[in-house]
Amino acid sequence: MEMAEVEEILGRYEGEPGDLIPVLQDVQERYHYLPEEVLRYISGRLHVPLSQIYHVATFYNAFSLQPKGKYTISVCMGTACHVRGAPTILESLQRILGIRPGETTPDGMFSLETVHCLGACALGPLVVIGGDYHGRMTPTKLDAVLRRYRKGGG
Ligand code: FES
Repeated sequence: MEMAEVEEILGRYEGEPGDLIPVLQDVQERYHYLPEEVLRYISGRLHVPLSQIYHVATFYNAFSLQPKGKYTISVCMGTACHVRGAPTILESLQRILGIRPGETTPDGMFSLETVHCLGACALGPLVVIGGDYHGRMTPTKLDAVLRRYRKGGG
């Protein structure tokens, strides 16, 4: 792995132990997860024990220690979305992508997860892709939406 990129991220900060969280946020954004070798490198550069870095990395949901896809697809399984057909949407997604919740497509494009009520029940069934809300989802709409993301658009 190219540490020049990590150096570039570290260069945005003072290099103090207190910079750990913003540095990890930048690394997460760049790689979509926190690679172990990068964490080791950061540990040396910021003088923070690796065990403490892992503690922080596992405490915050925003950080992932497993490779994540470019886009995370969150399917709301809250009650309102559930009764409006969320299970069918999840099934379709699993079939189209060939992965289950918690997994990432081999091309590194999509990670799939289920979430609880996102507070936009009127839009149910709700699917969030890369932070964008897609409401009143149907299996047919899914195909078209996913194609747009594969092409790089939203
Ligand atoms: S149940 Fe899905 S947004 Fe509330």
